[in-house]
Amino acid sequence: MLNFNKSRSQARPNRSYALGGMDHTEPNKKKGFVRKIILATALVALCILMLKQSPSFKSPSVFSRHETGVTHVLVTGGAGYIGSHASLRLLKDSYRVTIVDNLSRGNLGAVKVLQELFPEPGRLQFIYADLGDPKAVNKIFSENAFDAVMHFAAVAYVGESTLDPLKYYHNITSNTLVVLEAMAAHNVNTLIYSSTCATYGEPEKMPITEETPQHPINPYGKAKKMSEDIIQDFHKNSDMAVMILRYFNVIGSDPDGRLGEAPRPELREHGRISGACFDAARGITNGLKVRGTDYKTPDGTCIRDYIDVTDLVDAHVKALENVKPGQVGIYNVGTGKGRSVKEFVEACKKATGASIKVDYLPRRPGDYAEVFSDPSKILRELKWSAQYTDLEKSLQVAWKWQKSHHNGYGSLNLSF
Ligand SMILES: NC(=O)c1ccc[n+]([C@@H]2O[C@H](COP(=O)([O-])OP(=O)(O)OC[C@H]3O[C@@H](n4cnc5c(N)ncnc54)[C@H](O)[C@@H]3O)[C@@H](O)[C@H]2O)c1
Repeated sequence: MLNFNKSRSQARPNRSYALGGMDHTEPNKKKGFVRKIILATALVALCILMLKQSPSFKSPSVFSRHETGVTHVLVTGGAGYIGSHASLRLLKDSYRVTIVDNLSRGNLGAVKVLQELFPEPGRLQFIYADLGDPKAVNKIFSENAFDAVMHFAAVAYVGESTLDPLKYYHNITSNTLVVLEAMAAHNVNTLIYSSTCATYGEPEKMPITEETPQHPINPYGKAKKMSEDIIQDFHKNSDMAVMILRYFNVIGSDPDGRLGEAPRPELREHGRISGACFDAARGITNGLKVRGTDYKTPDGTCIRDYIDVTDLVDAHVKALENVKPGQVGIYNVGTGKGRSVKEFVEACKKATGASIKVDYLPRRPGDYAEVFSDPSKILRELKWSAQYTDLEKSLQVAWKWQKSHHNGYGSLNLSF
């Protein structure tokens, strides 16, 4: 501001000299006076604006105080596939949502969709931060009044975890510790944790119940199992309310076509079967490679339990509604029905209408023949069961979004 005044006062004498004579200087004096008033008013307005913007003068954000009747959920990884769908459901159910994401894998475009759907103040905020940064995480917890945390954020590809295990232990295990420490420090006592059937490894007996011993066989599953252990150990000396949900293979997208699954192209090689099918249907890849046709299953290909994301987020809401202080609920979230890779490919062909070329190759090391859940505990205790169990329909919904979003969420990712 000082510099600005100085330059004005220096400019005036120069102009007077140039004009010279009374006839010109008198009206100029008046004009100068008016200008001064305008300038002063503008400066006062600017100062008020700056003061209002400064954190110490800002009226406290709605997100920073607890409100009776409103549950404020911190959704980590809310820009990602499952986190964005969960945020949508929470917002629809009148929860207040704060998404924290470092956009390493997720899409700002998904957050924009949510912001457009729920623009009212106090509904949704997005905070760009890395959960690996304890200072940033602590600041977030100190500036916001969370009632619960849904911790989705993670790197989540089995194949990638075998190539870069440290990344997985750091991102999954160590970051969960950071989140837990912040929760403890700021008295946030409710946690819904995203775990995975990969923590079970290769159980001999199917279906998998929550009592099935956990012997994970890859760094992804091991890192998640370690996080589960940390949460449970911490819980023993606290009255934290915890739900650990072990998802099976997640597919599908928002039935109203607002959100979808849009992983980074560079992650394609580690990708999941639905993404691979859609890429083949769109001609992005040459076709599908099915690895292993000699497993001890009815058609020789691997069997998995595919859970629609709409059902999955419903399980999260039920978990949140039923979570109790001092208790840890552990639940499988699956359909209870195994589908073979061949069945999946056929459903994908029908859903997309594309003739997908399929190459059958030898087994991939580390793949297990058959994995499917026994979801009876979650039905019994949380009254949840999968409703979207028609594979072809789930894939149709996801395909519709894929077709209308050739570029995923588009260039929004780059604009952040
Ligand atoms: N997709 C599945 O089939 C499946 C199955 C079982 C479990 N899960 C679990 O569900 C959760 C969500 O998976 P998804 O499929 O939506 O993955 P995703 O990659 O689409 O989403 C993960 C999100 O977390 C964010 N993230 C990652 N590291 C972060 C960090 N350090 N700080 C802040 N944000 C970070 C990413 O940017 C991304 O938006 C993960 O915990 C995953 O392990 C997924």
